[in-house]
Amino acid sequence: TLLGEPRLTKKLLTCHLSRQNVTGDAKKPVLLGDIAATTAFISAAEVAVIGFFQELERPEVSNFHIVIGKIQEVPFGLSTNPKVLSHYNITSNTISIFRMVDDKRQDLKLTDGKEIDATKMSRFIRINELRLVTEYNPVTAIGLFNSTVQTHLLLFTDKASQEHTERVRRYREAAELFRGKILFVLVDSNVKGNERVMSFFNLKKSQLPALAIFHTPDEEQDVLPLGEVTAERVRDFCNGFLERKQRVNPSPEERTEL
Ligand SMILES: *[C@@H]1O[C@H](CO)[C@@H](O)[C@H](O)[C@H]1NC(C)=O
Ligand SMILES: *[C@@H]1O[C@H](CO)[C@@H](O)[C@H](O)[C@H]1NC(C)=O
Repeated sequence: TLLGEPRLTKKLLTCHLSRQNVTGDAKKPVLLGDIAATTAFISAAEVAVIGFFQELERPEVSNFHIVIGKIQEVPFGLSTNPKVLSHYNITSNTISIFRMVDDKRQDLKLTDGKEIDATKMSRFIRINELRLVTEYNPVTAIGLFNSTVQTHLLLFTDKASQEHTERVRRYREAAELFRGKILFVLVDSNVKGNERVMSFFNLKKSQLPALAIFHTPDEEQDVLPLGEVTAERVRDFCNGFLERKQRVNPSPEERTEL
């Protein structure tokens, strides 16, 4: 039967999934024909995903299209241009995620003999999808702990609160100042699973909104319940923590400067 043909089934599935987006058009990747277009595409978004493909007639390419239909909030690009591939050091079909927050690229190599289905691709993107302000969940937690930025700031807040949007706006404003130094995380106190994170910092719901800062290598931490979230308070809290840490053990670069 027609439906028994795997390609066609995938095509139908892609159509079905992409119909969920607002415009109703099938979401397509941006075709990146040269290096300039590719760097512009990457720098235009906090998180961007590119499929670098040497060969298009491969099952992983169809899987990539399925993922594009499923993940709406991330811009997707696709390049088969040899100059672009060589610029990005691509040696086999690869999906790369580029993040602004720590200026990092993570690769998922689609090598022969390794079955990378759409689910695995989506998971790779969800894990590594760190933003200027990343919402905490068990999947992003993996990416946060795998980042080279080892100081994490958490804002515990109730997403259902009327003040939520304004709080996030101010938090984000502070995040701009610490790009590459501190990862800014948002923890919704309404999510049941987040109670564990709250109790790790000995925080109670009555103390929220609150900030907690954590340095992963030595687990040093500090907590600050906030009556009101302002960019200045967040900034001062971060600076205080960074200064304290630097006094205790200056980083190698700073030691040579002295
Ligand atoms: C490609 O690899 C070279 C050598 O390791 C490196 O210097 C260069 O930065 C890489 N290019 C990109 C775009 O990552
Ligand atoms: C963690 O980071 C390393 C290197 O940056 C990468 O190779 C690895 O795939 C990452 N792990 C996950 C779970 O994304």
